[in-house]
Amino acid sequence: MRKKIVAGNWKMNKTLQEGVALATELKNMLAAEKPNCEVIIGTPFIHLATVSELLKDSVIKVSAENCANKESGAYTGEVSAAMVKSTGAEYVILGHSERREYYNETPEILKDKVDLALANGLKVIFCIGESLAQREANEQEAVCKAELQGSVFHLSAEQWKNIVIAYEPIWAIGTGKTATAEQAEEIHAYIRKCVAEVYGAQAADDTTILYGGSCKASNAPELFGKPDIDGGLIGGASLKAPDFKGIIDAWK
Ligand code: PGA
Repeated sequence: MRKKIVAGNWKMNKTLQEGVALATELKNMLAAEKPNCEVIIGTPFIHLATVSELLKDSVIKVSAENCANKESGAYTGEVSAAMVKSTGAEYVILGHSERREYYNETPEILKDKVDLALANGLKVIFCIGESLAQREANEQEAVCKAELQGSVFHLSAEQWKNIVIAYEPIWAIGTGKTATAEQAEEIHAYIRKCVAEVYGAQAADDTTILYGGSCKASNAPELFGKPDIDGGLIGGASLKAPDFKGIIDAWK
């Protein structure tokens, strides 16, 4: 049975103190009421060690939002996968459209990041998704497939077990425009078919595929109700504990 996941992506928000306060609030909420899914928070690098320590005995897991495409050495300002792992984080988000677009992360760079993350014992939440122009040209399937082929379909079957896919249509991220549950289900089913072609039907069935893009408590139940949508990757609504908890509760 594949895992249901609700993962937060704080992006470049929260000072260390604000992040600790948010993680503490969430920890207390979920200690009082156990979630029916795996819960992950993706935080900036500076929070990782403190928040991992804080959440050590809680159900919440911690993710980085990025890692370097090099192992170590003279790369000023970069943070390696080994460093992320050493903080206690279990996951890393890679391939987010903001990284692809604003930081020119190509499929080749992302492939190196994925390889290093896995080699260092991290699990990867790998993001894919089309732009508005690509959706209007009906290219969403081709775009998603190419992004998978470019950065993760070289992995072995064993490595694949540590991959979570997040489908995030760029036109829905932070815009308030959610894909309809039908639109999302259609492409999630297609993504699962692509995974089956490479890793087989069982592995595809075991793969967690998250939806991301203006997901909130009000639309999460409908999205998560679809057979191929296994949870969400949440940006804006992960920045307030009650909002995020509302999405987690969609699995109730
Ligand atoms: P959003 O972001 O929920 O604010 O649309 C989602 C994401 O970028 O992961």
